[in-house]
Amino acid sequence: MIAMPPINNANETVGSADSIFNKFKEHSISEFFKKNKQMLGYSGLAHSMVTIVHEYVTNSLDACEEAGILPEITVSIKDAGENKYWISIEDNGPGIPKKYIGKALATILAGTKFNSYKQQRGQQGIGAAGCTLFSSMTTGKPIHIESTTLNESYACDLSINTIDNTPVVSNMSDINHSGTGLKVEGVFGEIKYERGDRGVYEYLKRTALVNPHCQIAFIDPESEKYIFTRSINAIPKKPKEVKPHPLGLSINDIIEFSQVSQEKKISTFLQNSFTRVSPKKIEELRKVCNIDFDKPPSEINWDDAEMLINAFKKIDWIAPDASSLSILGKSQIKTTVLNILNPEYISVTERKPKVFYGGIPFIIESAIAIGGNAGKKTEDNDYTSNIMRFANKVPLLFDAGSCAITEAVKKVSWKRYDIDLEKQPVSIMVNMSSIYIPYSGVGKESIQQDQSIVNEIKFALMDCAREMHHYLKNKERDKIEMSKYKSIIKYVDHLSSDLAFITDMDRGMIKEKLSTLVESHYIKKKDIEETDSGESGEQVI
Ligand SMILES: Nc1ncnc2c1ncn2[C@@H]1O[C@H](COP(=O)(O)OP(=O)(O)OP(=O)(O)O)[C@@H](O)[C@H]1O
Ligand SMILES: [Mg+2]
Repeated sequence: MIAMPPINNANETVGSADSIFNKFKEHSISEFFKKNKQMLGYSGLAHSMVTIVHEYVTNSLDACEEAGILPEITVSIKDAGENKYWISIEDNGPGIPKKYIGKALATILAGTKFNSYKQQRGQQGIGAAGCTLFSSMTTGKPIHIESTTLNESYACDLSINTIDNTPVVSNMSDINHSGTGLKVEGVFGEIKYERGDRGVYEYLKRTALVNPHCQIAFIDPESEKYIFTRSINAIPKKPKEVKPHPLGLSINDIIEFSQVSQEKKISTFLQNSFTRVSPKKIEELRKVCNIDFDKPPSEINWDDAEMLINAFKKIDWIAPDASSLSILGKSQIKTTVLNILNPEYISVTERKPKVFYGGIPFIIESAIAIGGNAGKKTEDNDYTSNIMRFANKVPLLFDAGSCAITEAVKKVSWKRYDIDLEKQPVSIMVNMSSIYIPYSGVGKESIQQDQSIVNEIKFALMDCAREMHHYLKNKERDKIEMSKYKSIIKYVDHLSSDLAFITDMDRGMIKEKLSTLVESHYIKKKDIEETDSGESGEQVI
């Protein structure tokens, strides 16, 4: 083989590894997100505005739920010109202690929810710090905090030093504030307030509807005040913290858990750290896995962890406990859909718990609504369908294309159920509840298209579609019966006169008998009238 001569530009010298690596630099996670803010949901002016509100509101709901407090949240937005807005979000949660404020709201990948195996809205420790970063990046200004816990009440300003992902806390002062809670306010640039399907108002409305125990006040940039009132005065049962199931673990999870374990042996470490691992299971694992189960867990290396993960797949397990999941429930879904759409008919399904990645429990709830304000009006004044997606009671307004819910909707053979998503005013609602929602990206806007999740959503939608089909078929049949009844009853009057003339019998009596005959033939008449006035079955009144 003939070696090609190096192509050399006369003006350039060939760089040595040393000269190239002189530029070698380490980047912090916040520097990474500074350059890739779209990954956090900051792409597009209106989208970025909703992302900020979403991150703070989900945090407030999580914090109140964790502390057993009925949430009261106030969101205020003021136009600050040139695509800049002042945003303030205040809650009555437990607040954040002074010593954690910098880590909590100005350090990426820090928080109290990471690896907590409890159903919560937040899970990564990125959301709030991402907002702090976005504010500094777009306005150069810190965010302002007021926090009151049971022990202290203070105010401060926060920003992130992106070089090393550390918080910069300034202007710390004590304040007087009654009750506990957190208020975050700041000026954010490159955002825009828009009303509409994917705006802040809709986001808050949907959040309030699926979280009926919370009260949200919203003051929009026109100073218009909206209150989404609390409709349930009970604090929802706190989601139970569970241990992870062996089939839901990654190699890295095993390493992380083993490093913090106080157990003396791998066998007891596995039994005490994960659910469904009994002494009997350890014996089964010993037969399929060539590691020493009596050595300390701190000695588990990558190969051991990989062997364990493979061994987990070789034996049978009882499914994980799903009692930790906090779902909406059929009646809440119905109320939600009714409030948003006021449809003609709703069918609702709550599926049994299922498992994805082999070890993470989840529950799918879904609803299909037709008529009323369901569906979307097209430009030609026709209708088409729309999908309302929720994950752990949080509305998902963006990135529908990559979402498991959208994919599942595509997989249902709607024609089979006489439902035309292109033409009928149909709305579909799906809520996935899990201790871990596998989002497609860090922005938490869509659910990964894992096959077991897509299939389960599809089955839930098919359940609803079946019921809807039944309703539509009955409605069609009733319409036909009614039109037959109406065309025949028209002749009763005339026929009664003719028969009375021929037979010399009483016309009134003949009319009554004929009417009864026609009515008894079209027995559905009464039902039809009820259906028309919206009084039967699942029809919405
Ligand atoms: N309103 C609040 N009240 C009390 N604590 C809060 C509040 N907001 C945030 N926190 C604390 O700050 C931490 C960091 O919040 P952040 O939004 O960055 O991450 P997260 O909610 O844990 O996860 P995610 O990135 O998925 O949102 C939280 O884990 C929580 O401990
Ligand atoms: Mg959060």
